Amino acid sequence: MRLVMLGAPGSGKGTQAERLSKKYNIPQISTGDIFRALKRGEQLPGMTLSKETIDEISSIMNSGNLVSDDITIKVIENRIAMSDCQNGFILDGFPRNIPQGEALDRLLEKHNIKLDAVLELDVPDEAIVERLSGRRYCKACGKTYNLESNMPTEEDRANCPEHCENLILRDDDKPEVVKQRLATYHDVTEHLKPYYKNQDKLITVIGRKNLENTIKDVDEALAKL
Ligand code: AP5
Ligand code: MG
Repeated sequence: MRLVMLGAPGSGKGTQAERLSKKYNIPQISTGDIFRALKRGEQLPGMTLSKETIDEISSIMNSGNLVSDDITIKVIENRIAMSDCQNGFILDGFPRNIPQGEALDRLLEKHNIKLDAVLELDVPDEAIVERLSGRRYCKACGKTYNLESNMPTEEDRANCPEHCENLILRDDDKPEVVKQRLATYHDVTEHLKPYYKNQDKLITVIGRKNLENTIKDVDEALAKL
């Protein structure tokens, strides 16, 4: 399975990608997670970025804008070439504009592979603002939760070294940054919808329902592939 997750910030891309990654036993490749790991001081295997570049990434993310295509595309090229991607992958947050979409097409052609689908999660802006104000992540295990709809289960707590006791707000989930991230999505990223519709790859799932129903709809949509 080779899948792209498309959707506004907070639409649930990461939540579904993480679950599907376990279900299909293929890696979830989240450019946002990769950039946040760089900010924490981790380096990427096979790729070294300077401190200036990482500072630049950090300040762009905190403003709600997009990191440069040059860096983002290199990160994806490097990641997709790794051996764990041979049986498939889920791209979560890439591509985010037409040049990134075109770069992905070239990359897929180079590896002689094709996307199975682009799964769009369609959630209205009002629901997004509410959701992101309730989103928290666990610093110890990295899992994402929601104070309203998705708290850690007994199993989550048992799997975390700190039992998910310290849940925190992401730097870019402050209301003014969320507003800019939504504007970037509508101005730039949404152009990928007609792009993938033309390629006959776009599947849209209404992600505004509760988590359980969204999971059911996503699984049903993917089962038809
Ligand atoms: P990134 O980390 O990708 O952020 P994003 O697209 O803004 O998306 P989020 O991770 O905020 O949301 P999500 O859709 O994953 O939702 P989640 O599952 O957490 O990118 C961050 C930044 O990095 C960008 O702003 C940019 O600067 C940079 N960047 C990244 N990729 C880039 C690229 N390709 N090019 C350039 N720059 C790039 O769910 C949200 C919340 O809702 C959670 O609390 C969850 O528990 C809850 N939830 C999920 N589904 C449901 C449901 N169905 N019902 C109720 N609650 C739900
Ligand atoms: Mg995410």
